[in-house]
Amino acid sequence: MFITFEGIEGCGKSTQACLLRDFLQNRGKEVVLTKEPGGSRLGHELRRILLSVENQDLSEEAELFLYLADRAQHTHSVISPALKAGRVVISDRFTDSTIAYQGYGRGIDPDILNQLNIMAVKGILPDITFLLDLPVETGLKRALDRNIQKNLTMSEGRFEAESLEFHKKIRQGYLIWANLNKNRFVIVDASRDVNAIFTFIVLNLEEFFKNF
Ligand code: TYD
Repeated sequence: MFITFEGIEGCGKSTQACLLRDFLQNRGKEVVLTKEPGGSRLGHELRRILLSVENQDLSEEAELFLYLADRAQHTHSVISPALKAGRVVISDRFTDSTIAYQGYGRGIDPDILNQLNIMAVKGILPDITFLLDLPVETGLKRALDRNIQKNLTMSEGRFEAESLEFHKKIRQGYLIWANLNKNRFVIVDASRDVNAIFTFIVLNLEEFFKNF
């Protein structure tokens, strides 16, 4: 079972992914919780390059191929072996982040990105994707507060430094893409409180995997 969480900055993906891991583990499942960028050893280095504000001049194509390299290695060395071993994999961001950010955000054709994604992951795609949707203003405020708290402003602030318009395009892009892939997307109203969101996620997961 392969589950992904997607959404704009500060939408609460990481919190929900952790809650879901604990929930599934309590039900006796073996769970691997991972994330992009940075889910593999190589990815750890790529994450630093990708998110540093020092690399404000990274070209759009270089950015794209670094995310794809991160994903290819992540799938090869972490996700694929875990799925083969029968574990549940939860990833905080995956292929749809590239469609939303590099596609709808930066303006690269989403259909081309879809093909590149499929190549990078050798066809291993999520069974179910939770899109945590909320207004951009709310998400960015949460993300900035978190970065200040963790003192991450300089080391990981490259995307938070983008304009409000950019983030609005990403939110809209996610919604368009989710509607084009209704078979696996669940859109979650992430402006509610943590528990309400989590209850909604579990209900939908149970509905999706009737026998899980
Ligand atoms: P991260 O700190 O993990 O953000 P968040 O906590 O919001 O998940 O940073 C990941 C950043 O990388 C985020 O701004 C989205 C961006 N990103 C892309 O642009 N394309 C991608 O394919 C992925 C995986 C992430």
